[in-house]
Amino acid sequence: MAQFTLPANSIIRGGEHFPAPADASDKRRVEVYRWEPDSGKNPRVDSYDVDLATCGPMVLDLLIKIKNEMDATLAFRRSCREGICGSCAMNVDGTNTLACTKPIHEVEGTIKIYPLPHMPVVRDLVPDLTHFYAQYASIKPWMQTQTPPPPDRERRQTKEEREKLDGLYECILCACCSTSCPSYWWNSDRYLGPAILLQAYRWIADSRDEFTGERLDNLEDPFRLYRCHTIMNCAKVCPKGLNPAKAIAEIKKLMVERTL
Ligand code: SF4
Ligand code: SF4
Ligand code: FES
Repeated sequence: MAQFTLPANSIIRGGEHFPAPADASDKRRVEVYRWEPDSGKNPRVDSYDVDLATCGPMVLDLLIKIKNEMDATLAFRRSCREGICGSCAMNVDGTNTLACTKPIHEVEGTIKIYPLPHMPVVRDLVPDLTHFYAQYASIKPWMQTQTPPPPDRERRQTKEEREKLDGLYECILCACCSTSCPSYWWNSDRYLGPAILLQAYRWIADSRDEFTGERLDNLEDPFRLYRCHTIMNCAKVCPKGLNPAKAIAEIKKLMVERTL
């Protein structure tokens, strides 16, 4: 898996240390990024010695155990705990992933947990996704039509038309891909990034949508689409096994085809 260098951001190493209980039989060191932007203090890394013998198998179990038993002040997002909601996306062991589907046993030695890189931090492991969601809204992620629907049934697709959405509809908008993309790190103010472009293509590829031309017009811009340089980090990290770079390539192909 791709490894990423996180911005140092004046992190103070050796923040607070939380020892394991005396009867712990399988101790593992966990280092977690901590920051309260409103505190006026620099970020720090706290360390926790967790007893894995009494912990569930996933990194999210580890965080819940820390919060419940060692340090209630730790902040992180989670909801479904089964890779569906996308809210537990974070950087574990140098790779963006979902904490709830990342097995602890896949990480050797100290487990290092940081928020998604290059995003503003609300607190600790909670990134501020406001801009990411605004970019999502900008691609109008819903079906747009001009013709009225049939009076007696839904708008239908053939099996082949429906299959064109495979590899697209499964995206859970976790942002693991966009926050692993160097182009998005440096140009996220104008470049839409892999997650949003995959979502844009999901609607372009939908046979029922009647606004393909407008959707392509909306992306025809040196930054919104064309900052993808096919570095492929996005496809390497996607916890759902999707390939945003391929979706971006499909959009670029359509851009060329409509000029022929
Ligand atoms: S493409 Fe994959 S990594 Fe990117 S937002 Fe969707 S599910 Fe997450
Ligand atoms: S392939 Fe494009 S979108 Fe994916 S990481 Fe590389 S530059 Fe970013
Ligand atoms: S908690 Fe929902 S994806 Fe991890």
